[in-house]
Amino acid sequence: MRKKIVAGNWKMNTTLPQGVELAKEVNDALASRCPACDVVICVPFTHLAPVAGVIDQTKLGLGAENCADHASGAYTGEVSAPMVASTGATYVILGHSERRQYYGETAETLRNKVALALENNLTPIFCIGEVLAEREAGSHFDVVKAQIEEGLFNLSADQFSKIILAYEPVWAIGTGKTATDDQAQEMHAFIRSVIAGKYGQEVADNTSILYGGSCKPSNAKALFAKPDVDGGLIGGASLKADDFMGIVDAWN
Ligand code: 13P
Repeated sequence: MRKKIVAGNWKMNTTLPQGVELAKEVNDALASRCPACDVVICVPFTHLAPVAGVIDQTKLGLGAENCADHASGAYTGEVSAPMVASTGATYVILGHSERRQYYGETAETLRNKVALALENNLTPIFCIGEVLAEREAGSHFDVVKAQIEEGLFNLSADQFSKIILAYEPVWAIGTGKTATDDQAQEMHAFIRSVIAGKYGQEVADNTSILYGGSCKPSNAKALFAKPDVDGGLIGGASLKADDFMGIVDAWN
């Protein structure tokens, strides 16, 4: 059966000393717990190797927030999937709405990134989600379906089974406006049906679909109680160990 996962996305926050401290706090909090889900932190590139040195990755997974769409070469300022993997990280967030919106990531770029992540044994956490105008126009299902089809449906069933999906309605990210648990469930069930249509029910049933967007300790339990919500991708609330643990504990 599919995994339950709570993953933090630190975005462009914390200096290196602050980040190492936060990672240690999360690691220590997990050491005294038996979490009912997998727990992952996705951190800035600069923090990956030092954080890998201070956490126990059997209890706390480590990921990057992005990787390049090329394996190596003259791409000044980029960080490749092999580089990420060489730090000890095993996850990578791809296609976050902030990358799509501010850095012009297209479906083609994302297909290349996903392929390189998989080749380097990184588990992609692939983000999808509509903007407010699309929801208000009633096109949110079509938008999300197209993002999945264009970004991922070139994969074989075996490759697809390594993907974690994160549904993040853009209007709920960093706004304090969470999707209701029913809105999340409705979209997650739809996403699972789209996957079943392409790869079959078994692959769909084994795919973890996380919810992201103003998820916090106070609303995580109700969201996670929904049958198709398999965990969360957490922004702001992952920057405080206590809040992040409150969300992890929502699975208990
Ligand atoms: P917030 O939890 O800050 O709304 O961010 C969600 C997100 O974008 C995680 O990737």
